Amino acid sequence: MHAIKVTDKIYWVGAIDWNVRDFHGYSTNKGTTYNAFLILDKKIALIDTVKKEFYPEMLSRIKSVIDPQKIDLIISNHAELDHSGSLKAAIADIKPEHVYASTLGAANLKAHLGEDLPVEIIPNGGSLDLGEDSLTFIESRMLHWPDSMICLLKKANILFCNDIFGMHYASSYRFDDEVAERDWLYEAKKYYANIILPYSKIVTAFLGQVTKLGIKPSVICPDHGPIWRKDPERIVNLYAEFAAQKNRNKVIVIYDTMWGSTEKMACAVTDGLISAGVEVKQMSLHAAHRSDAATELLDAAGLILGTPVLNQEIYPSLGDLITYFKGLKKQNLIGAAFGSYGWSDGAITGLETIMKEKLGVEIAAPCVKSRFVPTEEKLKECFELGRAVGLKILEKNK
Ligand code: FEO
Repeated sequence: MHAIKVTDKIYWVGAIDWNVRDFHGYSTNKGTTYNAFLILDKKIALIDTVKKEFYPEMLSRIKSVIDPQKIDLIISNHAELDHSGSLKAAIADIKPEHVYASTLGAANLKAHLGEDLPVEIIPNGGSLDLGEDSLTFIESRMLHWPDSMICLLKKANILFCNDIFGMHYASSYRFDDEVAERDWLYEAKKYYANIILPYSKIVTAFLGQVTKLGIKPSVICPDHGPIWRKDPERIVNLYAEFAAQKNRNKVIVIYDTMWGSTEKMACAVTDGLISAGVEVKQMSLHAAHRSDAATELLDAAGLILGTPVLNQEIYPSLGDLITYFKGLKKQNLIGAAFGSYGWSDGAITGLETIMKEKLGVEIAAPCVKSRFVPTEEKLKECFELGRAVGLKILEKNK
């Protein structure tokens, strides 16, 4: 397999994972790439590796440019196994002079790959002279792991930023100018919503630090998805926008249903929201994956959840969603709960409490409960619930 030239001295030597559909609970409908980069200088450096099973692909791409044993340095910007899974095999085959990671990177790599891993620490702010050019290292802790680190190839002004500015998007193209924005924008949002959202305050601080250091890369090389060479500022600006969490007048109504009653209620809630004049996304958990719901959550001001009661509990798919959303720590939500029950309605009140206490949702209207199939009167209550949430959001955002 062949390497792809990024510049005269830099090659993409990663792997394309066309078929991955579940990335630790995130539905990767378009697959992904594991990007690794070769820098040809007096010292030859490999930046990151790929998921273990893709090691032969990476190695063959490296071989299309140089003998792998000519690589002097391996840099590991992040210890997660989609970038470090091949590291041990690469060290065995390449026999580099040095393997470098951040302080926490070295510890995390050893925790994954064994205490005997020959990895050295590169300090925050440290640099490595490659000959013609040099690499400067900056820790990017919690973006999105404690060990995360970025590095800048100084004269070339090219940033290797690991997971930051990436997306899960497999294609035959490697660069932003080869893929239409309409094809990648949803995947960029989805990646941010599912991976980076909990760390939004850190993103804002990180972007501020990068600006303060005068770093304005001409090319950004993330470890997933397109390389930003035509318009690197586009993805930086999108991150600033996502991190600010300036919610739109948009509400997501997420529910599940056993015999259609909760779905009827959801439709009435949606109708009420529309009558208030806000944008709505109605998502049944029969049809929508949690990670697509999270993507819609990214710029939503409102969250309304609906559940059937099963054995006195909320429906399992709602439990899954709440656990997932709790971890994403989305800020500034207004919402409400609704649901249908047979003989015990406590779980619906419980859902409202969970939304308040675990998801930080400001409840705009008391939950609506329907015993079995909702009556016209009950559907009117659902309509009013939706309308109350919509009007509250408009009032807050005016
Ligand atoms: Fe792409 Fe955090 O690994």
